[in-house]
Amino acid sequence: MNRITLVAGLSIPLLSLASHQAAAAEDALTALGKRLFFDTTLSEPAGQSCASCHAPAVGWSGPDSAMNASGAVHEGAVRGRFGKRRPPMAAYASFSPPLHIDPEEEHFVGGAFWDGRATGWLLGSPVAEQAQGPFLTPFEQNLPDAAEVTRRICAGRHGQSFRDYFGEGVCSDPVAGFNAAARAIEAFERSAEMNAFSSKYDHYLRDPKRFPLSEQEALGLELFVREDKGNCAACHPHTPGEHGEPPLFTDFTYDNLGVARNPANPWYGMTESNPQGAEWIDPGLGGFLETVPRFAHLAAENLGKYKVPSLRNVDLRPSDGLVKAYMHNGAQKSLEEVVHFYNTRDVKPKCETLATPEPGKNCWPAPEVVANLNTEELGDLGLTPEEEAAIVAFMRTLNDGWTPPEDG
Ligand code: HEC
Ligand code: HEC
Repeated sequence: MNRITLVAGLSIPLLSLASHQAAAAEDALTALGKRLFFDTTLSEPAGQSCASCHAPAVGWSGPDSAMNASGAVHEGAVRGRFGKRRPPMAAYASFSPPLHIDPEEEHFVGGAFWDGRATGWLLGSPVAEQAQGPFLTPFEQNLPDAAEVTRRICAGRHGQSFRDYFGEGVCSDPVAGFNAAARAIEAFERSAEMNAFSSKYDHYLRDPKRFPLSEQEALGLELFVREDKGNCAACHPHTPGEHGEPPLFTDFTYDNLGVARNPANPWYGMTESNPQGAEWIDPGLGGFLETVPRFAHLAAENLGKYKVPSLRNVDLRPSDGLVKAYMHNGAQKSLEEVVHFYNTRDVKPKCETLATPEPGKNCWPAPEVVANLNTEELGDLGLTPEEEAAIVAFMRTLNDGWTPPEDG
């Protein structure tokens, strides 16, 4: 009896030592991932890091106000080189499951990127697969191959912590080095720093009496949820999960809202890479499915669909003057415009039919992709201007880093 107690008593500190070590290792991996995320030597020419297009001050999305105000695609390390789409938020992305078909709803769920093409089918994690993309993309960090990524990390300021964590061998095997970098970045993307859940709404959920929403925000929440009003929660869920997990404001499904082209998208002018020039149409999820033999037959019904973005940090910006862009191509420039679009897309005439069009005011431009347009859940919501404003006010409660006014 005594012996058993003694053994059991001994094993507890041993166990907690082991879990302590595991936690410390996790912290070391996360810290390493953070350094790689901000490392501007991992581009050619040097100067660009992940954070150049996913900056914390704007909620881990594109920080360049001038770019956001026009084409919204952020310039790569090589001047004048642009990709096709707007940088989404890198935070909270790690919660997306690998891309799959929901057996009940029969639609696609999960993956990373606007079109889900970082599927998670290889590494089991969409964001780990995603993290390998930007280093080698000519429109982004523009390094030639995995070996060069590994070489630069190993020769650089963080080479020692990289070897300390993954072992000496990591630097002599380019593939191991590249995979290790992805794992470290993934760990950072799963960390509390990137997934803070520290918005006013999170405080409100934890203790609504102590952290109440304002009257306008509370009205906004009600309208956000009500099926006969905004119906936003149908795709941007607002309630905690089964085990109390805070809401992510996305169900990781795909939809075509009928967002118009962004005429300032620099990709239209990148004619060497984009032979279609201004005729190019973003195929969204359908375009990716076409490249996957077992899903190619589902491409047509998914054309023009993009992943539902989380609405966390959607209004986060360091100063009121900084412009943010919304939707896959950044065609919309304010939350007011977004909500007005949901409310009136099908009520106002198409701009193309008017002599003096004022997009968003007396008309809306035609959708970029007409196929698969969602006409059931949006387009004519019948919201008053006050109701639109309330929904915007509610979305402003989703910015991380909120501090309660009194207990500061
Ligand atoms: C030049 C700008 C640029 C750089 C640099 C960049 N990204 Fe991105 N990022 C984008 C764009 C644009 C997209 C969306 C592309 C698409 O959907 O086709 C994206 C998408 C993502 C996503 C997917 C989010 C989601 O919800 O689907 C994550 C995560 C991400 N980037 C992380 C990173 C990491 C990690 C790095 C550094 C290794 C990085 N990015 C470097 C522009 C950039
Ligand atoms: C049928 C699903 C669906 C419904 C309902 C819905 N959304 Fe969305 N939402 C999406 C999708 C999909 C996108 C991305 C579309 C794109 O990029 O073309 C999006 C994008 C957004 C964005 C832009 C975020 C960003 O980072 O670019 C905001 C803001 C937003 N929705 C708010 C709302 C509000 C407010 C409502 C209710 C009035 C609402 N949504 C209803 C699916 C939905």
